[in-house]
Amino acid sequence: MNTDSLFRPFSLKSLNIKNRIVMAPMTRSFSPDGVPTETVAAYYSKRAEGEVGLILSEGTVINRPSSSNDANVPHFYGEQALGGWKNVIDGVHAAGGAMGPQIWHMGVMANHASGWVPPVPFEGPSGLNSPGFNNGRTMTESDIAETITAFGKAAADAKRLGFDTVEIHGAHGYLIDQFFWAPTNERKDIWGGKTLPERSRFAIEVVKEVRRQVGEDFAIILRLSQFKPTAYDAKLANNPQEMEAWLNPLADAGVDIFHCSQRRFWEPEFEGSDLNFAGWAKKVSGKATITVGSVGLTGEFLAAFAGESSQPSSLDELVRRMDRGDFDLVAVGRPLLSDPFWVQKIREERTDELKGFSKEALGELVLN
Ligand SMILES: Cc1cc2nc3c(=O)[nH]c(=O)nc-3n(C[C@H](O)[C@H](O)[C@H](O)COP(=O)(O)O)c2cc1C
Repeated sequence: MNTDSLFRPFSLKSLNIKNRIVMAPMTRSFSPDGVPTETVAAYYSKRAEGEVGLILSEGTVINRPSSSNDANVPHFYGEQALGGWKNVIDGVHAAGGAMGPQIWHMGVMANHASGWVPPVPFEGPSGLNSPGFNNGRTMTESDIAETITAFGKAAADAKRLGFDTVEIHGAHGYLIDQFFWAPTNERKDIWGGKTLPERSRFAIEVVKEVRRQVGEDFAIILRLSQFKPTAYDAKLANNPQEMEAWLNPLADAGVDIFHCSQRRFWEPEFEGSDLNFAGWAKKVSGKATITVGSVGLTGEFLAAFAGESSQPSSLDELVRRMDRGDFDLVAVGRPLLSDPFWVQKIREERTDELKGFSKEALGELVLN
């Protein structure tokens, strides 16, 4: 297996990275009261030491009273939490890496198993987490305006602290995706609508505000998914034309890189072509894209939460698509959660040392 194409440098605006491998954002819930600890900093700097090109942080929530359902998910606001993040990015840079925080508002959520709840009810476009499951309230105009401002503030802080890029979490059924998806956006005002471009207004305004805050030269990544955790076969865009009508206004608003979340990167997005989501996103928008989903593993990530283990698998199909120019970057989640040195092992062809993934790795921040 020749993986040379994964080890070419990549540059786009503020982002200059030594290879094409991105650590996928993964919530770890090891930041008590929202403050990333020294161990969290060590966890990320180990991945930089292990030669990850770009590290995306776990989702880190913006300054809204109910942006999170978990007291141990890191904040991206407040002096203490931002001090923790400064420590993280300094450690990553010292180890030769690059990093962006994934800024996040969860929207309407189920209550966390810990019993912790935010001080005010969850908020979303229509109070819905998923069809038929209402666990929050409908956002007012001022809620929406303040949330857009809070995304912008978080991005400005990311730049100020020295991060190399910022990723906006628009995927997986959380706030921004609740606006995109018709079954969770029943609004009759300008924030809703029958078409996906109409329901994209909230995301577009978030991206515009982020761009306004960080300036032209800072790379902005937007993460998107067609699937929802409650509906694996959901599609926001049903064909390439709909995808183009969805992504181009987001690109015009300021997105530099689309991070196209799939559970399995090899699955075609539309009938009649083997292009995946990242392949189509690049083709219709002309923007750089990141692919993701079971790279180097036999099983996908949502099954992993239910306890399914995965073994290492070949990268040949990934490299074939990369060499064809389908996408620019490749995000890897669970392999890097279990093993900070996964990238080095791939580069040095030490495949017999690859660890695969088992659920136990979720219980700790693996440092070795
Ligand atoms: C423990 C865990 C936490 C995750 N948390 C996030 C998150 O905070 N934000 C996000 O966009 N995706 C999250 N994901 C999804 C990953 O970013 C990635 O898309 C997924 O794991 C597929 O990649 P993989 O097959 O290489 O693991 C998470 C995945 C795992 C395993």
